[in-house]
Amino acid sequence: MRVLVIGSGGREHALCRSLQLDPQVVELHCAPGNAGIEDVATVHPVDPLDPAQVAELATRLRVDLVVVGPEAPLVAGVADAVREAGIACFGPSGEAAMIEGSKAFAKEIMAAAGVPTARSRTCVTEAEAAAALAEFGAPYVVKDDGLAAGKGVVVTDDHDTALAHALACERVVIEEYLDGPEISLFALCDGSTAVPLQLAQDFKRAYDGGEGPNTGGMGAYTPLPWAPEGLTDQLMREVVHPTIGELAKRGLPFQGVLFVGLALTSKGPKVVEFNARFGDPETQVVLDRLETPLGGLLMACATGELGPDPVFKPGSAVAVVVAAENYPATPVKGDVIKGLEPTEHAYVLHSGTARSGGDVVSAGGRVLTVVGTGHDQDTARAHAYELVSRVQLRGSHHRTDIAR
Ligand code: AMP
Ligand code: GLY
Repeated sequence: MRVLVIGSGGREHALCRSLQLDPQVVELHCAPGNAGIEDVATVHPVDPLDPAQVAELATRLRVDLVVVGPEAPLVAGVADAVREAGIACFGPSGEAAMIEGSKAFAKEIMAAAGVPTARSRTCVTEAEAAAALAEFGAPYVVKDDGLAAGKGVVVTDDHDTALAHALACERVVIEEYLDGPEISLFALCDGSTAVPLQLAQDFKRAYDGGEGPNTGGMGAYTPLPWAPEGLTDQLMREVVHPTIGELAKRGLPFQGVLFVGLALTSKGPKVVEFNARFGDPETQVVLDRLETPLGGLLMACATGELGPDPVFKPGSAVAVVVAAENYPATPVKGDVIKGLEPTEHAYVLHSGTARSGGDVVSAGGRVLTVVGTGHDQDTARAHAYELVSRVQLRGSHHRTDIAR
């Protein structure tokens, strides 16, 4: 099959790498891609937010499958345009992607489907927000209803900060604080049924020990050796199947990946958030361990023919993100990167990179992800950090405690 991947981050590099390893995939394209994706796929300039442009490119390339990576194109209706052009698409419709695009909609679906999550109120006025803050108490959790590129959620003990964030947003979800470790589950969905990928955990704060501002994710690992037996089955039963069932009932069949962010609280697992796409950098580790060929799996989701649960290789994968100077504030761009060659048990996936003359240069906040593998987590982590130490990027920073 011929495949076109839409996006330009580390997640898309991981998707392209796995698709290239699938013998069924005979031609691989990516748009717009980055400097690393160029090594595994033919890249094309496209505005990923323009449904017509993407559908036109997919038609021109005569691909059999389009895989949409990021949330913004999904919410913009890129998957709808591709399907209307008669091409199979891995990625939910714009309406189904509102499970990520609107926190209030996600809460409504969860309530209707009986999915365990934080108690919440959706608020528009100052009086409603103040009442909800008083009802749930500190720590306060205030979420912008719409897509906010990772900047929409404020968790704080300070009442004034919480209220100020609520007032700065048009509509907010204010909810109960969930305590406990956070994990990520990716469920591949074909509209009516779903299968799980292996559980992963990411590290959201910028600095070691969970200090500093929130980021898109500074590292990840899979599997979770400490996770209780049967957790994935429980999550499929209590969260994923009811959610996609409720969406289907509303005429919004979900074809793509449902990313479930969960807190493992003392009262059981509860949903923190849904995303309509793969997570970054969890995807980089989860796909590394996936044994079932990826192209066939994604195609089965797009055509409503999902089969048995995918199979994973034994062993562990650890991802460490190398970020540009000043990330997650305005990152410094345009610096030359060296030391990108893989080692025996580790390799580099590009996120914010571009080509400039003969050099690879930084072009975003999270610049690259180093993935290390090993028979256990300690070995995988050691392999990852060994390669991180070879990467040269002026002013860059990374966490030293991923998967420790
Ligand atoms: P979200 O965009 O909903 O994933 O929120 C971003 C981050 O805020 C999450 O990964 C959590 O670390 C934190 N967060 C969100 N909701 C809650 C909650 N109800 N309780 C505690 N932390 C939360
Ligand atoms: N790593 C979390 C996310 O992709 O949102």
